[in-house]
Amino acid sequence: MAFRAFFVLLVVNLLKIQPGSAQEDLAAQFQPGPFATETAFFDKDDILAIDHNIYVYGPSAPGTFPIIYFSSSLAGNVPATAYKVLLEHIASHGYVVVCPAKLNWPGTEYESQWLIDLHKWVESNLVINLINMGFDKGLKVDFSTEFVMGHSAGNHVMCEYLKATCGNVQGFIMMSPVDGVDELGIIKKFCIEPPSQVSFNVPTLVIPAGLDSVPGLEIPKGLTAPCAPEELSNRRFYDGMIGPTWMVNATGYGHADLLEPGLVDLVDELKYCAFHEGGDPDEVYRRFLGGSVVSFAKGIMGDCNLLQNIEDSANIPVDTQIEMKGMEVDCPLGSCEN
Ligand SMILES: *[C@@H]1O[C@H](CO)[C@@H](O)[C@H](O)[C@H]1NC(C)=O
Repeated sequence: MAFRAFFVLLVVNLLKIQPGSAQEDLAAQFQPGPFATETAFFDKDDILAIDHNIYVYGPSAPGTFPIIYFSSSLAGNVPATAYKVLLEHIASHGYVVVCPAKLNWPGTEYESQWLIDLHKWVESNLVINLINMGFDKGLKVDFSTEFVMGHSAGNHVMCEYLKATCGNVQGFIMMSPVDGVDELGIIKKFCIEPPSQVSFNVPTLVIPAGLDSVPGLEIPKGLTAPCAPEELSNRRFYDGMIGPTWMVNATGYGHADLLEPGLVDLVDELKYCAFHEGGDPDEVYRRFLGGSVVSFAKGIMGDCNLLQNIEDSANIPVDTQIEMKGMEVDCPLGSCEN
């Protein structure tokens, strides 16, 4: 009897999860991907040709992988290691993630020339150096399939870069984007001046955290603004884009919930951000972000089915509200014009 019940249960479950089915493929994007990953660090003090440290997360396997440039919070001042789970998730799906960082906030990060120069170094030197540092000898990077991605004010850096050049960029991914030199808008320098829109046309995914504009419990003396003030954040970027744009709002999460546990406290800036409490742990949120990034990147490079992961809340492991605009076709393809 017990065996029979077990057998029925097994068959029922096998019917639900058909190997290789479209539904399983969708869910798999929110889980670690097929590749083991490796990481490398380049110190700007050791390499004269670069003026930024570079963290790299990539697959430890032979093959040709697209590249994603990532600018972290505070315009790249938060080290990439603070985003370890997220960046490894993306790398495990077959992407090389390059994260330039320089502790000179606010500095000149919003002038894009440094990133154009850094691209040149990366394209000529990255692969050979990674292989020398222990990555697979068969590793290749598809520099013609490039994405730019940011968290918080890191998106302002990438936005300025796209104003200067499209390069080989196919898509732009913004997590909780914030405009202005600092998150408080004290120093006025913006990438987007509403109601004007940007000059570049690139498929874009905006992923707000629902609590981005909610102040935390410990607001430092003298500061009253939330982490990502409403008028400087998500919708400003969504409205400012001219190409196909998706906005997937993870309503229950806060501005810093994607950072590694333990590191959150180290980042002063983030003490005054509201954060997710109860329900799903932040791990689910990091997997949601990683899954959204890879679904978008693969989706606009031809695997259109995966766009369902950024279009239909039913597929997504956290609560979301979704908006879309600029969709002239069902399957927008990666491209950039400016
Ligand atoms: C995201 O969702 C939260 C919660 O519903 C809402 O307060 C916030 O305004 C939304 N953000 C955007 C950019 O629509």
